[in-house]
Amino acid sequence: MKRIPEPIELMDEKAQAKAYAEADFREPNQLFLDRLLALMGDRAPNHALDLGCGPADITLHVARHWHDCRVDGLDGAEAMLAHGRRLLQRHPATEARVNLICDTLPSALLPQRAYDLIFSNSLLHHLHNPDILWQTIQSTAIPGAAIFIMDLRRLNSPQAVESLVQHYAANEPQILQRDFRASLCAAFTPDEVQQQLNERGLTTLSVHNLSDRHLSISGFLPG
Ligand SMILES: C[S@@+](CC[C@H](N)C(=O)[O-])C[C@H]1O[C@@H](n2cnc3c(N)ncnc32)[C@H](O)[C@@H]1O
Repeated sequence: MKRIPEPIELMDEKAQAKAYAEADFREPNQLFLDRLLALMGDRAPNHALDLGCGPADITLHVARHWHDCRVDGLDGAEAMLAHGRRLLQRHPATEARVNLICDTLPSALLPQRAYDLIFSNSLLHHLHNPDILWQTIQSTAIPGAAIFIMDLRRLNSPQAVESLVQHYAANEPQILQRDFRASLCAAFTPDEVQQQLNERGLTTLSVHNLSDRHLSISGFLPG
């Protein structure tokens, strides 16, 4: 199936952000966190970056897991970050270590060579030019940084897309079903992601299939 890019990269519609922030993503978010923790082993990051953090659920979990870590979350959609700020306010002990940044990638607001962990869930498929993610990682990570990216992966046919929408989102609001369908069509295949990494020289990162609809890109930058 040919890739159909997202019509708009950012999720800045109020109703869209609300539906996304209120949806139940516990299963994929837990998968994300389990794989991130497995990658990190005994390492505890000092300064982490969540790219396309949306309503900051994963951002918050990461900050709560590593108590000494500062976590920056970047998203270009103010409508999404508003949900993130409200979530953080409910966790005052963690809030001071989390900094939400409203900006669109590529971002001049991010510090260069600063982060020892960069993670991202479900951003890559939104990007019309996916190289922006890999460029950002190369310019903002320190040598040896841990990288964990999870995203949807593209399926073989429109029928396969429809069957996943029905399986995972049949009871969700129409707007969430619409976005899930668009995301599955905009997602990259593992081979396309591997090619993106090769073109950037990110050869220490590897691509894996994680579930019926997810892939991951993970590893450490050269030290
Ligand atoms: C599907 S949401 C994922 C949110 C969050 N990572 C999560 O797992 O819940 C994708 C997010 O990426 C943001 N986004 C898309 N393109 C972007 C860009 N070029 N720069 C910054 N954020 C972007 C959208 O606004 C949206 O909030």
